[in-house]
Amino acid sequence: MAQKIVAANWKMNKTLQESIDFSKEFAKNILNLKKTGVILCPPFISLFNINEILKNTPAKIGGQNMHFAESGAYTSEISASMLKSVNCDYVILGHSERRHDFNETNEFIKKKIDTALAKGLKPIICLGEKLEERESEKTKDVVKKQYDSAFEGISTEEVKNCIIAYEPVWAIGTGLTATPEQASEVHTYIRSLLIEQYDAETADSITIQYGGSVKPANAEELIKSADIDGFLIGGASLKVDSFTEIINIVEEVIN
Ligand code: 13P
Repeated sequence: MAQKIVAANWKMNKTLQESIDFSKEFAKNILNLKKTGVILCPPFISLFNINEILKNTPAKIGGQNMHFAESGAYTSEISASMLKSVNCDYVILGHSERRHDFNETNEFIKKKIDTALAKGLKPIICLGEKLEERESEKTKDVVKKQYDSAFEGISTEEVKNCIIAYEPVWAIGTGLTATPEQASEVHTYIRSLLIEQYDAETADSITIQYGGSVKPANAEELIKSADIDGFLIGGASLKVDSFTEIINIVEEVIN
């Protein structure tokens, strides 16, 4: 079975001081977690300090993006080695805000995935359709195209270091959550793609997170649904209380 993992994607929120305040309060809440994985992906400026504060807790940290090159003239970008140097284990790649607001293509994202894996960072690979794609029944086509590009040439050993996040674009930051049935259908489809490419045992071991307006009120029914192995959370991860509440819901459901 895949590990249940709850990740925070803070996006462009929180100053350094706000990140420190959050982490100090949050650290106390997760000391007794037994099974649920926790990942915090703050803005780059806070990674160093958050790592120091959370280093004796079960929480891991990750970047929200990275460049595929090792170094060079890429103003404002950050490399896998830089993320590793502040103890990141994870990096979010292919987030829909990067795909659609910053025109990142499947090909561009693929290069980053390959670099992350080669450098020992675990990518959280985001897949998901836009509203018009869902309405024209293209959800599976879009997700398959994103999946095929991301996982081309990825070995069985490497895929075990990947997390997949299904994030329907229409559900992100809108308050519109996919119903457990809608989310579960796509998660099961993604799992079937993994089974086809790898094998059932490997596919079952891959964490497939759901993202899109997850909050304490809907977390329980989502996490109880087939093939949903955790969450990638934006808005509700910005407050210690709501983020902790979701983590506790996941921990209780799996116990
Ligand atoms: P919200 O939880 O704010 O909808 O954001 C989801 C998301 O994009 C996480 O990566």
